[in-house]
Amino acid sequence: MFYSADEPCPLPYNPLKAIIAPRPIGWISTLDEHGVVNLAPYSFFNAVNTVPGILMFSSEGLKDSARNAASSGEFVFSLSTAPLQQQMNATSEGVAADVDEYELAGLTKADCVHVKAPRVGESPASFECKTLQVQTLTALDGTAIDTHLVYGQIIGVHIDDNYLTDAGLFDTAKAQPLARCGYRDFSSVNQVFELIRPDD
Ligand SMILES: Cc1cc2nc3c(=O)[nH]c(=O)nc-3n(C[C@H](O)[C@H](O)[C@H](O)COP(=O)(O)O)c2cc1C
Repeated sequence: MFYSADEPCPLPYNPLKAIIAPRPIGWISTLDEHGVVNLAPYSFFNAVNTVPGILMFSSEGLKDSARNAASSGEFVFSLSTAPLQQQMNATSEGVAADVDEYELAGLTKADCVHVKAPRVGESPASFECKTLQVQTLTALDGTAIDTHLVYGQIIGVHIDDNYLTDAGLFDTAKAQPLARCGYRDFSSVNQVFELIRPDD
């Protein structure tokens, strides 16, 4: 089938998120101006540069995480995993800005080194980030879209040693990162395979 994106979608649900899948989940911690902790998952999320490490998450509407990352100038990424799926999901609830999602989901606030917001203590890995820029999207016809891309540079790396192999590699399959697919679907990585590049 083919359809132009400016026509009504002929399928019962927009397939975009089922096709651009799986997507990693940025579990984002921030602090608001009153020091209230916020934690929420974002699957329009990725790493976009290696050195320096730069992460990006996209807020459809200016949600608390994006607002706090802009106002405080920092945020923390924690890796959400298959064993933490219920807690991750609980932190997506649309609660008032003064509700602490760590308490809501029963998660441990672990201290960061360079950033005031906490990281998820149960997570195998977290990155402390300083906000680089917040970019608001514009459509082809020039209209502003209420979607805000938050970019942050990684300034601190936490890894639970239990997820490091003897060779010092992060054991992704052991960590079982959660990934978002379409509709209500999720996946997790529990096995990996190696491909050697032609010019390696
Ligand atoms: C797995 C998952 C991924 C999500 N990804 C996004 C996303 O990429 N962008 C977005 O705006 N909302 C996303 N949401 C919804 C937000 O998590 C939800 O609106 C949340 O309440 C926002 O919290 P905040 O206002 O504290 O930032 C996602 C929810 C789930 C469960």
